[in-house]
Amino acid sequence: MRASNLLKKFEMDRGQTMTTLFTNRSDFQSWRDLIPKDRTIGFVPTMGALHAGHVSLIEHAKSECDVVVVSIYVNDLQFSAESDFTRYPRTEESDFHLCANEQVHAVFAPARSEVFPEEVINVLTPSNNALGFEGTDRQGHFAGVVTVVDRLFSIVRPSVAYFGLKDYQQVAVIRDMALQLHPDIVIESCETVRDADGLALSSRNRFLSVSGRNTATLMNIAFNKANAIWKSGTTRSKELINAVAAELSQDSAIHVQYISVVRNGTMEPVSVACQGDVIIAAIVVDGVRLIDNKPLINA
Ligand code: PAF
Repeated sequence: MRASNLLKKFEMDRGQTMTTLFTNRSDFQSWRDLIPKDRTIGFVPTMGALHAGHVSLIEHAKSECDVVVVSIYVNDLQFSAESDFTRYPRTEESDFHLCANEQVHAVFAPARSEVFPEEVINVLTPSNNALGFEGTDRQGHFAGVVTVVDRLFSIVRPSVAYFGLKDYQQVAVIRDMALQLHPDIVIESCETVRDADGLALSSRNRFLSVSGRNTATLMNIAFNKANAIWKSGTTRSKELINAVAAELSQDSAIHVQYISVVRNGTMEPVSVACQGDVIIAAIVVDGVRLIDNKPLINA
């Protein structure tokens, strides 16, 4: 295989799949070109700092696709503050080990110049689902996200791409971008993975103090309260939002950024909630911004 001469290898012989690390775009593409057309490719784009939420995406990809590719690329375009980009956790070594243990076929961990070799980057405009919520609080964030995901899709050429529903708005925006620019790629959203105390897994959780972490679990508790009210017949979003706000107000360490109920799969706020609509919220604890959401399910 011609590509094997070119590869910088990171491999663990586990008797089955060997994981190959590509840092160079053309090496990756040589490898990609060798995959027969009738094979399905599952793609998990990440910014590294991998945790059980990413493992669950990888497991989904493994169960549905012939070949699994994980990308690790901390995308400066989606950070509004230079300090957030610099502070973002980089745990490449353990990320590679995790992927190898998961028997991912390829890890693509390029430098910026491999992803964006051009001098001037044409930043894409995201769909209207990028307006409001995270789009307001983090100006330019979704433009950066769709620009890098579009580029990664063009390089990896996956059949299916997997994203976690914790980033609910991100999934909506990427789905819109893919529909327009990559209609053949299936976008699959996967359930949020939570710790035993209900806190949604996030690479940001590591920045929480012990008490901050404890405080942050109130978000899931608040969603569950709203869900209980919903099950008992309350459909007015205002009342559901008030229930979440009341719970969060119990801890003065929480600074609420927004709470809303949106139509399933979109960012359109609703005044009367239907089955499957989603409560979304963002809070700041210990200076760490946390987002989470939960669908209203009457089961
Ligand atoms: O969710 C993330 O980790 C990032 O936003 C993504 C989709 C990998 C794009 O950089």
